Amino acid sequence: MSDLSITISGGVQTIRFTRPDKKNALCSTMYVAMNEALAKGDADASVVAHLFIGSGGVFSAGNDIGEFAERARGKSSLSEPIVRFIRGLPTVSKPMIAAVDGLAVGIGTTMLFHCDLVYATPSASLRTPFLDLGIVPEAGSSLLAPKRLGYARAFELLVLGEPMSAEKALAAGLINAIVAPDALEATAREAAARLGRKPPEALALSRRLMRGDPAAIVARIDEEVAVFAERLASPEAREAFAAFLEKRQPDFRKLAAR
Ligand code: COA
Repeated sequence: MSDLSITISGGVQTIRFTRPDKKNALCSTMYVAMNEALAKGDADASVVAHLFIGSGGVFSAGNDIGEFAERARGKSSLSEPIVRFIRGLPTVSKPMIAAVDGLAVGIGTTMLFHCDLVYATPSASLRTPFLDLGIVPEAGSSLLAPKRLGYARAFELLVLGEPMSAEKALAAGLINAIVAPDALEATAREAAARLGRKPPEALALSRRLMRGDPAAIVARIDEEVAVFAERLASPEAREAFAAFLEKRQPDFRKLAAR
């Protein structure tokens, strides 16, 4: 099975993460396919909304850490497909819906700030362990999370790395509803169908008014990308990536001792 399944039916473009052996971690080829799909779906009059959904009881374990480690070794920047994906999120023109079951880590959580409707199961857990990886918040989350959640809750999520349960996310206004796993996809599709019955121009204009000028978000993403790229090659991040891949605890103190 490929790592991603992209289908269009009933007015919904479904982008399903299907990489269960890696907990649906997102790798470059998946970003390439998503970038293409979002552009095509936006241009396709039959598509009302994009739906992101995981599989195997996991939404996504976030960016592929193996790829981060490779980049860090090469002292290079983030790969072009990731940057294109995160820079593109604020400018996607059709509504985006997410259906989150289980873990949503890193970009699996931060992409939710760009979605218009988010449904989650009781087991959903949003996590952004950026600091523990020696890196910084991305995908505009340093701007969008404080706005949406308030600074205190955003700091707890993004900096302290405190997992956010479905209940907490509902109370914080990040998700719309908690639904049983077997009703998750149907709930998201029903919401898309409701959007499909709205006048399309009024829908597009309302969304644009509510979301505001994407330029400010893109500018913040560019700032984040610059810092993130520096951090990727930092000794702290390299140690964190190596520790994850070697299945051990990171030892940041040995870096300080050097
Ligand atoms: N990148 C690459 N591989 C990942 C991954 C990621 N983000 N998340 C999980 N995997 C891989 C694991 O290396 C493991 O691969 P292996 O079977 O070849 O050893 C496999 O997926 C299963 O993961 P495992 O850690 O055994 O599952 P778990 O249920 O114990 O834990 C997580 C699941 C998601 C909590 C844990 O894998 C994790 O913390 N992943 C990293 C999340 C992260 O930090 N993402 C980046 C944020 S910027």
